[in-house]
Amino acid sequence: LVPNVSPKPKVFVSRRIPENGFALLASECDVLSWNHEDPPSRKDYLTAVRGIQGLFCLLTDTIDAELLNEAGPSLRVVSTMSVGYDHIDVQECHKRNIQIGYTPGILTSATAELTVTLLLATSRRIKEGVKAVENGEWGTWKPMWLCGQGLEGATVGIVGLGRIGLAVAKRLKLFDIAQILYCGRSEKPSQALEVGAVFTSFEDLLTRSDFVIACCALTPETHHLFNATAFKQMKQTAIFINSSRGGIVNQDDLYEALKSGKIRAAGLDVTTPEPLPTDSPLLKLDNCLVLPHIGSATQSTREAMAVLAARNLLAGLQGKPMPCQIK
Ligand code: DGY
Repeated sequence: LVPNVSPKPKVFVSRRIPENGFALLASECDVLSWNHEDPPSRKDYLTAVRGIQGLFCLLTDTIDAELLNEAGPSLRVVSTMSVGYDHIDVQECHKRNIQIGYTPGILTSATAELTVTLLLATSRRIKEGVKAVENGEWGTWKPMWLCGQGLEGATVGIVGLGRIGLAVAKRLKLFDIAQILYCGRSEKPSQALEVGAVFTSFEDLLTRSDFVIACCALTPETHHLFNATAFKQMKQTAIFINSSRGGIVNQDDLYEALKSGKIRAAGLDVTTPEPLPTDSPLLKLDNCLVLPHIGSATQSTREAMAVLAARNLLAGLQGKPMPCQIK
């Protein structure tokens, strides 16, 4: 008997991905793919990773010690088709000498555009307007109906002036805002200079901003950063936007703040959990607009993410430096 041993590294791709990224992997690897829009069950996932050398995963996949143990010592590279990597236990990977790739940079514009879209749609009450048109509630032009809040002269607070925060700031500057405040772990003088942003504390930013935009990564420090205390510090007229991760918000507290009028409105592209159950009280609120995590969802961006994640995986497997590696 001749054992069926392929010289190509064995790789698991956990979802249907853009064709160009898949083709790149398939040209050099023995690819096992979960070729569906929905993820495999945990049981199927654990079975699929046994004995693989490379894993191409998505932000919805929990890559933890259990999964890494199941994959076994053959696993050398985990490559996520996302810039966020809070779903990966980085320490556990590094303990096992598993390299991790991710896809920063290429989704910055798309995510910044969506963040601005969410901000404009929320502040100009687009959800209520569309509902009114569709429900036949559009009586006539009324001077005081569906008046929202403009950006002109506003103070915008950006929590996390990283790649996406900076790109949002650049776009918002075109709306004749008065000033940009930012906060984060450390001051970012060169980025701040590009957009004339002023560094301040989280508390000060909350108190002074008309728009509070969360652009920070989910870490143990930012988990539930936006809670009852934070919402209480914001202006009653403030609008809160989150396009980073649902976990940075205490959603019960956000609901309470929106319902009781502690803040004016919220626009969310990310929630906990995802998908947000259709009976979530947030969805009943006219002043809360929720989108289904589509920040990076432009065709070209998703294709570029798939290709970069594939290139990271291939480079890692070949022992070469990855284009984008988490250190
Ligand atoms: C990411 O890549 O982390 C975004 O949340 C989805 O594009």
